[in-house]
Amino acid sequence: MIKKVLILGSKGMLGQELVCVFSEAGHKVTGWDFGDIDVNDASDTREKIIMLHPDVIINAVAYNAVDLCEEDENEFEKAWRLNAEVPGELASVALEIGAVFAHYSTDYVFDGEQRSGGYSEDAIPNPVSRYGESKFIGEKSVAAIGGRYFIIRLSKLFGMPASSVSAKKSFFAKMEEVAREKGAVSAVDDETGCFTYAPDLASATYSLVLDSAPVGVYHLVNEGSVSWYEALREYFRIIRIDAEIMPVSGASFTRPARRPKDSTLCNTKRPALRDYREALESFANRKESGSGHIVS
Ligand SMILES: NC(=O)c1ccc[n+]([C@@H]2O[C@H](COP(=O)([O-])OP(=O)(O)OC[C@H]3O[C@@H](n4cnc5c(N)ncnc54)[C@H](OP(=O)(O)O)[C@@H]3O)[C@@H](O)[C@H]2O)c1
Repeated sequence: MIKKVLILGSKGMLGQELVCVFSEAGHKVTGWDFGDIDVNDASDTREKIIMLHPDVIINAVAYNAVDLCEEDENEFEKAWRLNAEVPGELASVALEIGAVFAHYSTDYVFDGEQRSGGYSEDAIPNPVSRYGESKFIGEKSVAAIGGRYFIIRLSKLFGMPASSVSAKKSFFAKMEEVAREKGAVSAVDDETGCFTYAPDLASATYSLVLDSAPVGVYHLVNEGSVSWYEALREYFRIIRIDAEIMPVSGASFTRPARRPKDSTLCNTKRPALRDYREALESFANRKESGSGHIVS
C-alpha cells in the first residue's frame, strides 16, 4: 500500500538517502528541510504537518556539532532545542494524526565504559557529553509520548555529502582529502564503535517502519566494531591510496566533549546490516563514479 511519507531534514546526509529509498519504492514522499520548515517553530511545524497529514514522519533533523555545544552556551541552547525538545513535539503531532514516527539517536548516549560485548538496545544510557545528554532526553521525550514510535540509534554516519547549505563531508572523505594533499594522516585508535553507511540505514529504516515492528529502541549500524584507525586503514586499502596512517590516542586531540571509549552498538532486534567493509566498498565505488543514489 502506498504511504504518504514526510522526511524532515531531507537535505542532510541521511535524509537525502531516506528520500531516495522511500521514493524508489513508490511511496509518496515529501522532503522538508530549511527553506520549507524550521522545526524549532513548534506551532508552524504542527500546522504544516497536520495539513500534509502523512502516514509516516521520519525525523532526520539534529544538531550534531558535538564539541561546539560542549563549550558554547548559545550553541548548547540550539542543541537542546533541536535534540531534546523538538523530537517530543514531533512525536506528539504524529500521535495526534495517527502517523508512525521514526527518530534517530546516537551511540553517544552511552558512556563507553563497558568491558566488552557492546550495548544492546535495552542497555542503560549514561551520556558523558552535553550533546549525548541532549540526544538522550530527546529519546526519552519521544518514548514518553508513545504512539507508533521508533528510536533508531546509529553511530559514525558516512555517505555522500548532504546537499544542505552547511553540509559536512564524512570522516573518510575528509581523511582522503588530507592524505592526497599531505601523504599522511593520523587517526584515533583507542576509541571503538560501529560505522553506519547512510544508504544502508535508510533501507533498514524503510523495512523497520513498514514491517509493523514493535515500537521502541533499535540499533541499526553496519556490522563490525573498529577504531577510527582500523576503519581508515580499510578504506585506504579499498581506494588503493598509499598514504601513511599514524595511530594516535583520542587524548592527543583537543576536543572539548568527552567521547565514549567503546560505544559498540549491538543490533539484537533486526536483520543485521552488512559488514562495514562491504559498505565502505560501495561508498568508494559511488564516490569514484560520482553517481547519485545507489543502494547496493
Ligand atoms: N552524523 C553522524 O555521525 C551521526 C552519528 C550518530 C547519530 N546521528 C544522527 O543521525 C541523524 C541524521 O544525521 P545527519 O548527519 O544526516 O544530519 P545532517 O546531515 O546534519 O542533516 C540534518 C538536516 O536537517 C537540517 N536542519 C537543521 N536544523 C533544522 C531546522 N531547525 N529545521 C529544518 N531543518 C533543519 C540541516 O540543515 P543544515 O545542514 O543547513 O543545518 C540538514 O539538512 C541525526 O538524528 C543525528 O543526530 C548522526
